[in-house]
Amino acid sequence: MDALDLLYSALSRGKIIYIGAESIVYLSKLFNRNVIVKRRIRKTYVHPSLMDELIYQRTRKESRALVKSLENNICVPKPLFVLLSKGVIIMEYLRGRRLYEVLEELETNSNPGFSFAENLFCSIGSLLGGLHSLGIVHGDFSAGNIILGDKGPCIIDFGLSDFREDAESRALDLHVLNRSLNALYPSITKMFWDKLVQCYLEKIRDYRVLGKLEDMMLRGRYVEERRYKNGFYNKQ
Ligand SMILES: Nc1ncnc2c1ncn2[C@@H]1O[C@H](COP(=O)(O)OP(=O)(O)O)[C@@H](O)[C@H]1O
Ligand SMILES: [Mg+2]
Repeated sequence: MDALDLLYSALSRGKIIYIGAESIVYLSKLFNRNVIVKRRIRKTYVHPSLMDELIYQRTRKESRALVKSLENNICVPKPLFVLLSKGVIIMEYLRGRRLYEVLEELETNSNPGFSFAENLFCSIGSLLGGLHSLGIVHGDFSAGNIILGDKGPCIIDFGLSDFREDAESRALDLHVLNRSLNALYPSITKMFWDKLVQCYLEKIRDYRVLGKLEDMMLRGRYVEERRYKNGFYNKQ
């Protein structure tokens, strides 16, 4: 079986589990293992050769970040097969629950497992700190891109990742996470956010990030307040 046969076999037996703006994700089987096939979508409004380049670059970034993370024990799905020109990555299927579901339960539970939630937030902070220590920033570190497996949280969706070490890009990963958590689970996020940042810093000790994050949060709050005062929300 050559590479293309392998790809077609995985695609034809797969069932679609997600259709996003960027990609279609299939759950399939390869050599009797559950695998995820992620295939980037071509957009018709982008010039074809530019689209080819974008798909190629994003798939390359995603697979490189996956390989480097894996080599350094950051929990990510193991890439099994990559076809850059077609924008396809076949990777290990991560069993587990999405972070959203877990937080939903914690938020609605009147007696949330305090230490469970605290450990969860801490482990997410350590995970991101570990990723940043490798010189990788994720680029879309929202709660939807974290899967909670048996051994703790794992990260998926590295299409917007980059090899960078500046404080601003690092703070942005934290900021995106904070916004995505706060929007849906404000009380639990308020309770444990500091723990997440503390565990992040224990891993990477890049204190420049704190100042940048603070700026981003303040700017975000300022925009929200202006919108509120100007009646932006009443017009929706
Ligand atoms: N390796 C994986 N294991 C399990 N589920 C996955 C895996 N990769 C993707 N998924 C599922 O597919 C969804 C979309 O994948 P993702 O890589 O985030 O695509 P997009 O870039 O379009 O957001 C995820 O939210 C998750 O539910
Ligand atoms: Mg995603």
